Amino acid sequence: MDLTKRIEEATAYVRSKLGDVQPEVGLILGSGLGGYADDLEDPIIIPYADIPGFFVSTVVGHKGQLVAGRRQGVTVLAMQGRSHYYEGHTQQEITLPVRVMKQLGIHTLIITNAAGGVNEAFAEGALMVIRDHINFSGQNPLIGPNLADCGPRFPAMTKVYDKNLRTQILTKAAAEGIALNEGVYMMFSGPNYETPAEIRFARTIGADAVGMSTVPEVIVAAHAEMRVFGISCITNMAAGMADEHLCHADVEEVAKRVRSTFVRVLDLALETI
Ligand code: HPA
Repeated sequence: MDLTKRIEEATAYVRSKLGDVQPEVGLILGSGLGGYADDLEDPIIIPYADIPGFFVSTVVGHKGQLVAGRRQGVTVLAMQGRSHYYEGHTQQEITLPVRVMKQLGIHTLIITNAAGGVNEAFAEGALMVIRDHINFSGQNPLIGPNLADCGPRFPAMTKVYDKNLRTQILTKAAAEGIALNEGVYMMFSGPNYETPAEIRFARTIGADAVGMSTVPEVIVAAHAEMRVFGISCITNMAAGMADEHLCHADVEEVAKRVRSTFVRVLDLALETI
């Protein structure tokens, strides 16, 4: 089925479940952070399994549902869990939810992830506001016929992560004693964690953090001229930077540990939007 039809079908289904609720902000919640959507007011829950064209993520700890609801006076549509390129889907497929958000009238995307710290000044548990990204996934979600209704064939990626939002959120967080870093997120396809040599390469070319998500969704959002705010939870220092063996359970554990700070930053982001 062609992509436009898939977007239309999924959008129609989600809209039928939302009734007259109009979300303004899309929220993609990464590993260990899905709980944020549990606390939305007046929630409407839509399992991915029921939405045509959506995939249920196979990653442990990802719930696999959309939750619409209110928080900080803003109506959000949150993705509790996302599918990843490394699960075997195309980047076109994993970004379908962002296209649906746009069709639903959502103007801003807040995207979160767990990432490995590459910048030596970072420590486990740090939070990094994404200033820019490097698409090292080897793929691009915009390959194929351009969806001219969404955006141009050759979209600029110069100002993807809204500077105004970043500045305001960093300032508000600092005023509350929350130290946020800012940096460049580099996407590897995964599913393996990187090698120490890959991490040295990442640092050399300007990455501050590495991960296996986010970039495809952000490219699609930027194509559609959505405002983007991205934030990474540095759940571990990247390969070769610490002695420990990298594993998903530890990533989840650290994400849980910093969750209350993370939740506060997401609240500040919603307040600012
Ligand atoms: N590398 C890639 N993805 C990750 C990491 C990492 O070190 N930590 C959490 N997600």
